[in-house]
Amino acid sequence: MFKRFRRLRMNSNLRDLVRETSITKDDFIYPLFVKSGEGIKKEVGSLPGVFQMSVDTILQECAQLEALGLHSIILFGIPSVKDSIGSDALCEHGIIATAIKAIKKEFPKMFVVSDLCFCEFTDHGHCGILDMQHESVNNDATLEILAKQALIHAKSGVDMIAPSGMMDGMIAFLREALDAHGYENLPIMSYSTKFASAYYGPFRDVAESAPSFGDRRTYQMDPANRREAIAESIEDELQGADILMVKPALAYLDIVRDIKERITTPLAVYNVSGEYAMLKAAQNAGVIDYERVMMETMIAFKRAGADIIISYHAKEVARILNT
Ligand code: PBG
Ligand code: ZN
Repeated sequence: MFKRFRRLRMNSNLRDLVRETSITKDDFIYPLFVKSGEGIKKEVGSLPGVFQMSVDTILQECAQLEALGLHSIILFGIPSVKDSIGSDALCEHGIIATAIKAIKKEFPKMFVVSDLCFCEFTDHGHCGILDMQHESVNNDATLEILAKQALIHAKSGVDMIAPSGMMDGMIAFLREALDAHGYENLPIMSYSTKFASAYYGPFRDVAESAPSFGDRRTYQMDPANRREAIAESIEDELQGADILMVKPALAYLDIVRDIKERITTPLAVYNVSGEYAMLKAAQNAGVIDYERVMMETMIAFKRAGADIIISYHAKEVARILNT
């Protein structure tokens, strides 16, 4: 009887030859949380295996990552002092600027991406400067300080900036500011389609960035809207983003595919804290084959159209790929 895929199923070499999607260590960006201080390596309850680390500890971590074959990281900062405008992020000696300089000095080949936003640096936990009514973020005032933050990161030697605040006109504004200061070649990875998601919960514990009032729904997207999600990424591509992103990843793979089919830039997914925490909880409860579920999830991101995966699982994946 004629069975079209029989031979493919029977021979594992042939199966390898015709496999459509694969995962490599080069696909990953690993998130790191930098805290001011020294000798700090503090695990946060909701994200087992993820740590707040001081710069010295981050350097040890980078050595470990390079040994595993991981060469890209994205930095988030936890400053010692937070205020209404996020001053630490606007200072050349701020926590992220300091971390970038230290990492690039010791690990020049490490590709260092910086998250560009203010929620980790403001005492109110919102992604920028508040408006007069203190109800939401003042878009245009926030663009000004985002450009300052971007230039500080650029000067510190960052390899790519990743604006995550979803402000209007953000990419064009940042591109112009970078170009005007001689950073024409510094790429921008935009968090172009970022949903207002409950999956960010554990991240806000680690980054100590939960908003003190209200939520981020005025600037992040409604999970119910597919066409708007596509439009947001296309808009950022037109404004000059070099890489686009869908965040969270797992619950939005339809959007990943939709966007991939409409853009020509590379596309990243952010496999966020809540997605990681769910797998970890299931692992700890002994109810899944954790490694297989994790790898299946990673291949799903690639199959949906992701070129880059930002994930807390990156080290675990690298260990599996190395064996
Ligand atoms: C904002 C930012 C957030 C995440 C990445 N960048 C938090 C937010 O929007 O509240 C979430 C990532 C995650 O959940 O792992 N700077
Ligand atoms: Zn933010």
